[in-house]
Amino acid sequence: MAETNLQVLLRRRPQGEPTPDDFEIREAPAPEPAEGEVLVRARFLSLDPYMRGRMSDAKSYAKPVEIGAVMEGQTAGEVVASRAPGFAPGDTVLGGFGWQRFSAVPAARLFKVDPDEAPLSASLGVLGMPGLTAWVGLEDIGQPKAGETVVVSAASGAVGQVVGQIAKIRGCRAVGVAGGKAKCDFVTGELGFDACVDHRGDLKAQLEAACPDGIDVYWENVGGAVQAAVFPRLNDFGRMVMCGMIAEYNDASPRPGPNLMACVRKRLRIQGFIVSDSGWQRYGRFRAEMLGWMRDGRMRWREDVVDGLRAAPQAFIGLLKGANFGKLVVRVD
Ligand SMILES: NC(=O)c1ccc[n+]([C@@H]2O[C@H](COP(=O)([O-])OP(=O)(O)OC[C@H]3O[C@@H](n4cnc5c(N)ncnc54)[C@H](OP(=O)(O)O)[C@@H]3O)[C@@H](O)[C@H]2O)c1
Repeated sequence: MAETNLQVLLRRRPQGEPTPDDFEIREAPAPEPAEGEVLVRARFLSLDPYMRGRMSDAKSYAKPVEIGAVMEGQTAGEVVASRAPGFAPGDTVLGGFGWQRFSAVPAARLFKVDPDEAPLSASLGVLGMPGLTAWVGLEDIGQPKAGETVVVSAASGAVGQVVGQIAKIRGCRAVGVAGGKAKCDFVTGELGFDACVDHRGDLKAQLEAACPDGIDVYWENVGGAVQAAVFPRLNDFGRMVMCGMIAEYNDASPRPGPNLMACVRKRLRIQGFIVSDSGWQRYGRFRAEMLGWMRDGRMRWREDVVDGLRAAPQAFIGLLKGANFGKLVVRVD
């Protein structure tokens, strides 16, 4: 007799904070694996902040869960039946099987793991998507260097724990931001961060004390008030790793001003620069290329020429109000 499957479905899209009524719990017969498929029994299901986004049909980087469909999620489990080569009952596997006890999955969507390497649940956390997130984001964007200060929000959480510890391994000063004394004590005591700031207290004063040399890398997990407090303390050539903004996920409408969550969704790169940092070293190459474009007509330019040095103050005042039309220059004599 087929085993009973237990599934959690999305009943409706939440408005603001999700409620239990947004979900439906259903029993159904366990599926039969088709040719090339494996029947998996989930042992652990990962719950992650991104799932809030999947419950909404707002435009995003991933498709929403359909109403009435099983909620999406990563699971670790064991094979109970296999109709695919390479998998046998008892194998331990990872995959995105959703919020359900049993699933029949094409073999290509499974990742087999050795259960003796680490506790199974770790493959959903430090050894799973959150750990990978921390590792990739630091390698690609944060690029922490020994001696730098790395601040990470939601520091006691799945991603944050790993970010701060990698920063320590790389020789950085790691400063966490977390909610409450117990979490902060864990972050400094158990995880070995150099300091942890409680975002329920005076953020500004605590950040100043914890980051006497400013902040070189800010790992953003939270947004909101934490982002506002950290941002002004970033050092020259600092990096902000835009990972998530969980404090704003339940907002019914976007907060005013540019919303940096777009950096996550659209993988935006926002980087400031000052031309003198390295521009003049490339002046010769620039000038030769530009002269070529000017000569062959691909580069056009307009100037706004004012006569006499005495006219300079008024022209400059106008520049700040849009009175110029094109590159403003003064014909001195
Ligand atoms: N870009 C990616 O590929 C990617 C991948 C994975 C995760 N993420 C993002 O990474 C972030 C952390 O995810 P996680 O899985 O590691 O979750 P998590 O940190 O284990 O859990 C969420 C934590 O966020 C903090 N938080 C929640 N609401 C808050 C608020 N209003 N203000 C301040 N802090 C708040 C809470 O910690 P405190 O009590 O300490 O505040 C909470 O424990 C999320 O934004 C998530 O969306 C992004």
